[in-house]
Amino acid sequence: MPEWCWLNGQVLPLADAKVSVEDRGFQFADGVYEAVRLYDGKPFELGMHLERLERSCGGIRLPLSISRETLASEILKLVKHSGVRDGYVYLQMTRGASARNHCFPAQLKPTTLFYVRELPPLPKEEYERAYTLLSVPDERWNRCWIKSIGLIENVLARNAAMDAGADEAIFIHEGNVTEGSSSNLFMVQKGTLITHPLGSRILAGVTREVLLRCARGNGIPVQERAMKLEDAKCCAEVFITSSTRELVWVSKWDEASIGDGSCGPVTKKLHDAYRQCVSDALRH
Ligand code: PDD
Repeated sequence: MPEWCWLNGQVLPLADAKVSVEDRGFQFADGVYEAVRLYDGKPFELGMHLERLERSCGGIRLPLSISRETLASEILKLVKHSGVRDGYVYLQMTRGASARNHCFPAQLKPTTLFYVRELPPLPKEEYERAYTLLSVPDERWNRCWIKSIGLIENVLARNAAMDAGADEAIFIHEGNVTEGSSSNLFMVQKGTLITHPLGSRILAGVTREVLLRCARGNGIPVQERAMKLEDAKCCAEVFITSSTRELVWVSKWDEASIGDGSCGPVTKKLHDAYRQCVSDALRH
């Protein structure tokens, strides 16, 4: 079965999809993206992803060339066509192809594409495996709320983590922990869930938002506030979230061990609540 792609309105096998070498996404990273999780053939929280896409487009002054409603229905059609049940949709919008020039092109022809890829459910041991974290200085720009395709800082951070034998890099900005290279970060201290507030330093993760809802619905106190690295490492529980990984608990952060070496009770409760949200979404 080929993987399927939608490119500027045309449906074709992903392997045959081509864009110009003068695409501004290729030359300037002039574009934004989304990664939407699919469970049982249904995109999870597609509306929230498309809202964020629209905000990201606004952030780079790229008018949406296709309405959110049309985009949603085209995504649903492609998912069905692909036959993929567990996977994700990768969507990217760039300012399109034009002769290289820093100025926006006068005639805007944005490139819009999305494709569907399988992401089979992980075996239980892998699904429940702990992550280890490496702290790295946050040298990104001040618009981390934009889901920009310019990800080189994130790519370098993740590879620094891998080289150090860790699973994820955590950005440190002015002594505070912000987020991971491709995930949001949560700490649990005295039963309270703590995560960095929205704003310029983090991406407004869809998983983060769903999880905060789960926490409030389960009577878990929530604080959206900055936290110093040394305090974060002393928390009883730490976990990261993303659409593709859901929640992953953390057992080690730089040289520090977190908790007692098992997944903590609040993390477990929140992951169960998250799974419940997914099952509820599948029923509707
Ligand atoms: N990344 N922060 C960053 C920097 C991210 O890149 C991501 C997601 C998140 C979590 O967002 P969400 O819960 O909406 O997936 C936070 C995706 C998965 C990626 O780059 O592949």
